[in-house]
Amino acid sequence: MKLSVLVLFSVLIASATALPQPDKTIAKRATPTLYLAGDSTMAKGGGGNGTEGWGQYLGYSMNIPVVNDAVGGTSARSYTDQGRFQSLVDTVKSGDFVVIEFGHNDGGSLSTTDNGNTDCFGDGNQTCISPTTGETVHTFVYYVEQAGKALQAKGANVIFSSQTPDNPWESGTFEYTPSRFVGYAQEAAGNLSAAYVDHGQYVANRFQSLGLSIVDSFFPMDHLHTSPQGADVVSAAFVKGVLCANDVLAAHVKNTTGSVPGSCI
Ligand SMILES: *[C@@H]1O[C@H](CO)[C@@H](O)[C@H](O)[C@H]1NC(C)=O
Ligand SMILES: *[C@@H]1O[C@H](CO)[C@@H](O)[C@H](O)[C@H]1NC(C)=O
Ligand SMILES: *[C@@H]1O[C@H](CO)[C@@H](O)[C@H](O)[C@H]1NC(C)=O
Repeated sequence: MKLSVLVLFSVLIASATALPQPDKTIAKRATPTLYLAGDSTMAKGGGGNGTEGWGQYLGYSMNIPVVNDAVGGTSARSYTDQGRFQSLVDTVKSGDFVVIEFGHNDGGSLSTTDNGNTDCFGDGNQTCISPTTGETVHTFVYYVEQAGKALQAKGANVIFSSQTPDNPWESGTFEYTPSRFVGYAQEAAGNLSAAYVDHGQYVANRFQSLGLSIVDSFFPMDHLHTSPQGADVVSAAFVKGVLCANDVLAAHVKNTTGSVPGSCI
């Protein structure tokens, strides 16, 4: 009896060790990582000349590592074409987080020239032919959705974030009109049942209450790239949006909703 139990155990152990190893590509990390995909408004070093991207400040508010993979000069399209989304897809593990925020370099027209960043107009599967290279160009929504789907297939939590505003005090009075890429980011999130943060509106609201002189000081170079102080405020606005949405990422924020300036929208 005892012997046969022992034999049975040995057989079980032998068969257990013979089992195929779990697929490491879907292995869950003990601590998830938050990856950031975006342009110079998010990237390390911002747009140069002492400006800084908001992604550099997010780590102070998170209790998980933040990897800032934003690259200046990119759009949803060029981030795709340069293989940067693919390398994120290759890197993420189940349970990781990816924030996708584009728009500043996505605009323009493909009627006569192509800078490699402009997307095809529209929010669906429309395609355009590049007048420069002849390649097929897709829409913003298509590019970020393809990336989002592939990331979700790896078990990552995707958060679509709307682009930050240009200095809304530039004219001397406060003006904020969301670009079409704000609406597109929200649509992409809806189409993939992913989280959405209207970062643009959270930043605009914060900039409105801080007033002209403070906000002007956040834009030392142009109306797009922020000073380090400005980037910190833009990061805090994102954190506020995550906390207010109380989405999957909120559990990894160090701060309480009430302690971060601004109001929920
Ligand atoms: C995303 O959703 C919007 C709104 O429902 C729809 O019009 C659009 O075609 C969808 N885009 C893609 C790429 O599936
Ligand atoms: C766009 O194409 C993708 C497949 O590439 C499909 O999943 C999606 O439903 C399409 N969207 C529309 C609006 O046709
Ligand atoms: C959250 O708290 C940390 C200190 O624990 C602080 O460094 C950070 O600036 C805070 N973030 C926000 C958005 O207030």
